[in-house]
Amino acid sequence: MASAARSYDAPPHRSDADGKVPWTRSPSAHDALEAYYAANPDTRPSHSHKWDTSRSDIYFENTWEPIFREMRAAGPLHYIPDSPYGPYWSVVGHKAIQHTESLPEIFSSSWEHGGITILNRLEDVPAEQRLELPMFIAMDRPKHTGQRKTVAPAFTPAEMTRLEGDIRQRTGETLDALPRGEVFDWVNTVSIPLTTGMLAILFDFPWEDRDLLTHWSDWAGDTELATARGLDETRRGMLYEMAAYFQLLWAERAKKGEAPDLISRMIHSPAMNQMDPQEFMGNLVLLIVGGNDTTRNTMSGIVHALDRFPDQRKAFEEDVSLIPNAVQECIRYQTPLKHMRRTCVEDTELFGQQIAAGDKVILWYNSANRDESVFENAERLDIRRENARRHIAFGYGIHRCVGARLAELQLRVLMEEMHKRRLRVHVAGDVQRVRANFVEGFRKLEVEVTRF
Ligand code: HEM
Repeated sequence: MASAARSYDAPPHRSDADGKVPWTRSPSAHDALEAYYAANPDTRPSHSHKWDTSRSDIYFENTWEPIFREMRAAGPLHYIPDSPYGPYWSVVGHKAIQHTESLPEIFSSSWEHGGITILNRLEDVPAEQRLELPMFIAMDRPKHTGQRKTVAPAFTPAEMTRLEGDIRQRTGETLDALPRGEVFDWVNTVSIPLTTGMLAILFDFPWEDRDLLTHWSDWAGDTELATARGLDETRRGMLYEMAAYFQLLWAERAKKGEAPDLISRMIHSPAMNQMDPQEFMGNLVLLIVGGNDTTRNTMSGIVHALDRFPDQRKAFEEDVSLIPNAVQECIRYQTPLKHMRRTCVEDTELFGQQIAAGDKVILWYNSANRDESVFENAERLDIRRENARRHIAFGYGIHRCVGARLAELQLRVLMEEMHKRRLRVHVAGDVQRVRANFVEGFRKLEVEVTRF
């Protein structure tokens, strides 16, 4: 590793007598945010523009579809002059998003320009509050290329074959242990344990601590938290703690030889072993958040969508061969990441509109995946949909999700194992969606299982 610009020490006050660090497992990011807004109701961001879809209530209440439908009818991109995150362009059409993503030299992902979420530009965040964790999703070429190449071999078809048996076994065991004849939360019982377990295996992360991955992922991936100013410090603390934990793992793996886990791959790769500690941590955060929140929420989304469209559940139950396409359709329908952001770096014209250097451009994947010019009856789940694969939930172009195959594999295995056990999952209680403009998903999904 290159000389350390910063090292992430475990908070010394937390080390106990045995030298073990009792890592902070609470508060949960969600509880902290709700408590913060309850205590400071005036600080909730206010949104005055009718097309400002950075407002999280429309996702929490699931009322976002008509707003994007109206925008798409009016054109593929629109200027939103006013929002709590400043002005931005909203790209809402499928073709327009692909086009924007195919011009990475003009529409930058670089964290130096503000990165990949709708949050403010880096300059707007006071220096002492910045948490600089550069990651390759927020880099442009050529640096992006080298770092992506390092982790890509962890997601080849051959690697997927190697991982499939274990995924199937863990999924089967989780389903076999489900409570019968009672209502339980699918998110905590199935979606979180399966995706967290997968990440722990990818990183060869200490199994007994794997719940920390979910905890950190929630703190790192919630863009709302980063704007609730009063929580900045808690969030930074959580992320430094995560960094400290991984620093210990890094030191341990560096002593060992090459191994297939992602940390060892990064340590021993020429493109990544020159990274400074911030870059190393940044890329770990990327893999943790990228691999966790997303797949987890589609695991919940599948169950919710099949319950909402009983004819589709029947089709799934009657024909196991539909599963690979059903996975694509559920990913389209769910779209676990609502947006990615780019920053325009030179004045340019896009679909008849003048975009200026420095403008923030938001690519709304949730809208593109409802684009009726590409998907007929786009607001319906249709597991036989012929072009379900054209969804852009994984993005497009040089940054297209590197973990897509792994996500697809986990979701396919989940559906196959549900089918094998003839499990029918009914929504039977409370459903709570995530209140966020970045991650789309479920915080709680109370269900009951029967057999079909
Ligand atoms: C990038 C979505 C699962 C790791 C991305 C992007 C999206 C995305 C939208 C940005 C694409 C762009 O800018 O064009 C998803 C969805 C998933 C999923 C919907 C599940 C259903 C995973 C998994 C991993 C992962 C399982 C790894 C364990 C990454 C990484 C990048 C990325 C490392 C950055 C790629 C780059 O910049 O070159 N993902 N992802 N993702 N994802 Fe995923």
